[in-house]
This record gives sequence, C-alpha cells and structure tokens, in this order.
Amino acid sequence: MSTIHIAAGRPYDVLIEAGLLKQCGQLIREVHAPCSVAVVTDDGVPTHLADTAEASLKQAGFAVQRIVFRQGEAHKNLETLSDLLEFFASIPLTRGDLVVALGGGIVGDTAGFAASSYLRGIPFVQVPTTLLAAVDSSVGGKTAVNLQAGKNLTGAFWQPSLVICDTDILAVLNDDLMADGAAECVKYGVLGDAELFAMLEQGGLRSSMKEIVTRCVEMKGRIVAEDEHDTGSRQLLNLGHTLGHAIERAGNFALTHGHGVAIGMVLITRAAIARGLCEASALPRLTNALKACGLPVECPYKREQLLEAALRDKKRQGGSITLVVPKAIGSTVLMPVPVEELSAWIDDGLNA
Ligand code: GLY
Repeated sequence: MSTIHIAAGRPYDVLIEAGLLKQCGQLIREVHAPCSVAVVTDDGVPTHLADTAEASLKQAGFAVQRIVFRQGEAHKNLETLSDLLEFFASIPLTRGDLVVALGGGIVGDTAGFAASSYLRGIPFVQVPTTLLAAVDSSVGGKTAVNLQAGKNLTGAFWQPSLVICDTDILAVLNDDLMADGAAECVKYGVLGDAELFAMLEQGGLRSSMKEIVTRCVEMKGRIVAEDEHDTGSRQLLNLGHTLGHAIERAGNFALTHGHGVAIGMVLITRAAIARGLCEASALPRLTNALKACGLPVECPYKREQLLEAALRDKKRQGGSITLVVPKAIGSTVLMPVPVEELSAWIDDGLNA
C-alpha cells in the first residue's frame, strides 16, 4: 500500500492500493473511534460501492446512515448542501462523529463543505471513486459548492482526516472518466515529474494506475504542505485551468473539466512558446501525452468566447490574473498578467 502523508495544518494520510474499499472500516478505525457515520454519495456512484463501504464500516463498529443526492454539477449547490446538513442533524451527528464522502469531486467537495460547517466543523474522510478525485480534489482540503454566479464560489478549506483510494475502483472507469482525470495527471507531469510524464506519454495510465496516482498525490501533497491556503505555489496547480475553465464555460459545460484543462494546457504552452518563454519541444510532447490519454488538443471556441469567459474567472484579482506558464516539460512559473493582455495570450494560444 502507498501511504502519503499530507503535512497540512491538520495532517493526514492518503492510502492508495487495490481493494481498500472493503477494508475502509478498519482503516478508518485507525484514525477514528467507533461513532455515527453519515456516508454521502450520489446516484452516479455504483450502489455496490456504497454497500461495500457501509458493510465494512458496520463490521468495524460504526453506526452508518447513507444519503444519496442527484449526480451532476447542477446539484452541487446550496440546496444539496442544506439537505446534507439537515440529514446530519436528523441522525443526529455530533462533533465526535464522522462524514464519509464516497464519490467523485462533486461528492467530495459538497460533503466536505457540509462537514466543514456542520457544528462549525466535524471530521470527514474522502473515498474518491474517480481518477480526477483521486489525484486532485480529494487531497488538499478545498471544499465548495456552486452559486448561480459560478462554480465553487462558496466553500472552505477543510482537510479530511484520511483519504482512502481503492485503485480497483479506478481500474474499471469508462474511457471518458479516465481521460478526465488523466488531464490532471499530465498536469503534474508538466509541473515537475518527468518520469510520470513519460509513463503517460507511453499510454501507461491503466497499467500503472497505482504508481501514477501515487506520484500525483505525492506532488500535490508537497505543494499543499507548502501553501495550504492557496496564496502562492499552490496556484501552480491551476496549470491549464484559467483557459480550461473558460473553455468549459464557453461551451456551457459541454466539455468536462479534464477535457477543458487538456486544451487549456495546450493553449498556454503554445502561447508561452510564441513569447519565447517555453522550449518549443514542450508542445508536441504535451499533445502526444494528452492524445495517448484520450484527450482533445484542439480548441473548438473562438477568442471572443474564451476571453469573455476567462474575464469572469474567480482567480482574477482586480486588474490582474495569474497565469501558470510552462518553461519546459517539468518546469512552470506563475506570471501575473494585466487582464488587458489576456486577449493577446489567447490569440497566441489559438495560433490566430
Ligand atoms: N485543485 C487545485 C487545488 O487543490 O489547489
């Protein structure tokens, strides 16, 4: 089993191995005494996974109740948050009890935010069931729901007490879900792990799942330990995301997050090369790795559509937006750019 220690303000471990779900009760017992547990999941998560988790928790001495909300970004909202909080209160969970988030990023973010605010904060455990959640959203304590005005506009930093990643669950994901998470894996390779990048370039995602997830989580853990509250180096994790989010928004979320991030990484790399900031060889390597993971590399939208969406980015600070700019595969820098220059960056990215 890979055990990665996350040295956040409230430290915890991420456990990665095949078959961990059926042991989740015992694993949680090692960090939490028997108590009442609310298992939060959505109706996109196969029921047998929640059944397995629940059986294991009960066997380990926990009293378990389950809540299943409707899947999809549209339900990552204040209404679902309210339903979860009312559910916790109806059990009733106390400060000594626990929330277990079993699902992808939407479940983890929503359940985590509910745990952060219920009774001013109770412990929660992340059990990611998608690659994207395993390598990114389940680690680092960012929790949130969407507002009508945009994605993740209200939330909290609330670290889990434990993350349990069962690679058997990831091994059977469909190609689209796999590709969605793969974009984040490629991102970690570009940020600073040449071996990881080479594995992805060679199409090794399914065959080297445990090693790839471990390498991604190790890198995320190092960055979170350095900058838990996202005021400095953690912003590197936004590589491809400013334009990626704009691509998602421009198409009214027809492209999923990972697919938007993949194209966003291509655009920012092409723009960086055009400006003499990045080695030219980075672009063909990046596009090859993305294609090997089943991801798109061409942007279907025009500059005006991307610009309008990018200007609404929540990471914008007044007149400036911080771009994550690749210098080479394995090396990136943060670059604050005046918003008036964003249009030229997008032009360079689109090769317009
Ligand atoms: N998903 C980016 C971060 O956790 O900071």
